[in-house]
Amino acid sequence: MAKRVGFATRMGAIAAAVGSAVGLGNIWRFPYEAGENGGGAFILVYIACIIVMGIPVILSEFIIGRSTHSNMKAALKKLSPGKKYYMFTYVCILGSFVVIGFYSVVCGWIIEYLYQAAIGHLSGHTPEEYSDMFSALISNPWRCVGWTMLFLVFNFLVMSRGIEKGIERVASIMMPLLFLILIIFCIHSLLLPGAGKGLRFLFYPDFSKLTIHGVLDALGQAFLSLSIGISCLVTYSSYFKDDTSLTKDAVTVGVLDTMVAILSGVMIFPAVFSFGVEPTAGPRLIFEVLPGIFQQMTGGYVWALLFFLLVFFASLTSTISLSEIPITFMIEEHKMSRPRAIAWTALFTVALAVLAGLSFNVLDQIKLWGNNIFDMMDYAASNIFMLLGGVFTAIYVGWIMDRKVIHEQLTNGGRLKGTMEPFVVFCLRYVAPISIIFIFLFLTGII
Ligand code: PFF
Repeated sequence: MAKRVGFATRMGAIAAAVGSAVGLGNIWRFPYEAGENGGGAFILVYIACIIVMGIPVILSEFIIGRSTHSNMKAALKKLSPGKKYYMFTYVCILGSFVVIGFYSVVCGWIIEYLYQAAIGHLSGHTPEEYSDMFSALISNPWRCVGWTMLFLVFNFLVMSRGIEKGIERVASIMMPLLFLILIIFCIHSLLLPGAGKGLRFLFYPDFSKLTIHGVLDALGQAFLSLSIGISCLVTYSSYFKDDTSLTKDAVTVGVLDTMVAILSGVMIFPAVFSFGVEPTAGPRLIFEVLPGIFQQMTGGYVWALLFFLLVFFASLTSTISLSEIPITFMIEEHKMSRPRAIAWTALFTVALAVLAGLSFNVLDQIKLWGNNIFDMMDYAASNIFMLLGGVFTAIYVGWIMDRKVIHEQLTNGGRLKGTMEPFVVFCLRYVAPISIIFIFLFLTGII
C-alpha cells in the first residue's frame, strides 16, 4: 500500500476541506438554484438542511475517514469485516466522475471569462449583449471544449504534485482572498439602483413559491456544496491528525461554505433586479449579471480579472478534491502508481467533460425530459448521487457502525467536551434518512 502522507498543519487540513466545499457550487450554482426556486424560502430550507443533515453527514464522513485512515472501500472493509458495504464505494466513484464531468465545463467558462476580462472585452455592453456573449460561448463547441480541456490540464498538473504540496498551499492562500473580494462585490451590488428588490427576493420567505422539487433542490444543493455523499471528505479526513476536533472542523466547513453561498446571493440578486435579468435564468445567471457589476466599479477591469482568477482557484481546489476520490482509490485498492491512477482518472474525466461541453451545441438534440446531457449530469450529481451517498453514510454511521467508534472519534477518546454527539447521532439515525427517503418517495409518486 502506498505510504500515506498527511496535511502539514491543522489549518492546512481545514483549508483543504473548506477549499473542497467552496467552489462553483456556492458562486455559480447556489444563486441560480435560489433564483429558480423563489429565493427566500429556498434559502431557509437550505440553511435548515445544512444544520440538520449537512453538518451531521460531514461528521459521518470524517468519522469513517479518520477512524480508519483509509479510502472509502478500505475503510468500510475495516469497519465491517466480511460485509459487502464497501461495494457502495463504486457508486461514490461514479458520482465523483459525474460531478467533475459537468463541473469542469463551468470551470472552462470561467477561464473564457477570465480571458475576456484580460483582453478588456467584458465591459461596455448592455445586459442583452452579455446574454448574447454567453450564448455565443456555449454554442461554440471548440471554445467550450477547449477551455474545459485547459482547465483539466491545470487540475491534473496540481494532482501530480501530491496532496500536501498542491492542495494545502493553494487553499490556504486563496480562501481568505475570495472571501474579501466577495464582500467588496456585495457592497457594489447593493449600491445599484433598485438593489432593495434583490435583497427582498433573497431574504423574504415566500413559501407559496417553494415546491417539493425546490426542497429536493435545496437538499441536493446543500450536499453538493458541502462536498458530501461521494466520499470526498472520507478521503480528506483519512489524512487528518488524531488530535483535531472533528465537530469543530465540520461546523467550520459548514459555516464558511454557507457564508460564501449567501454572499454570492447578495452579490448577484440586487444586480439581477437592477439590470432586469430573469432570476430564473438558470446556469447562465451569473455570467449575464457579473459583467454589469464590474462595469459600474472604479477599476472594474482589475476587479473582473481578480474575481475570475479567485473563482478559478476556488473551482480548482474543488476539482482537485473530486479527482482525489478515484485516484486514491486506484492507488490503494488497485496498487497503481500515482501517475497511472492520474492518467486513468484524467481519461474518464475528459470523456465525460467533452460530452457535457458538447451538449449545448453539437449534441444539443440529445435530451431527456427537456434536459440536455449537461443538465442531466448536473441534476443527477446533486439530486441523486450525493443524496443517495448521504443517506448511505448517515445510515451506516448512525445504525451500523460501532457506537464506541463514533464516541471515540467525536471526543478524541473522551478528551473533548461539547461535541454535539447526541444531536449528531439523532440526525444521522432519523432526520437525514427519513427526510431524504420521504422526498424521493414523494417525487416518484409513491406517497
Ligand atoms: N463542493 C464543491 C462546490 O461547491 O463547488 C463541489 C464538490 C467538490 C462536490 C467535491 C463534491 C465533491 F466531492
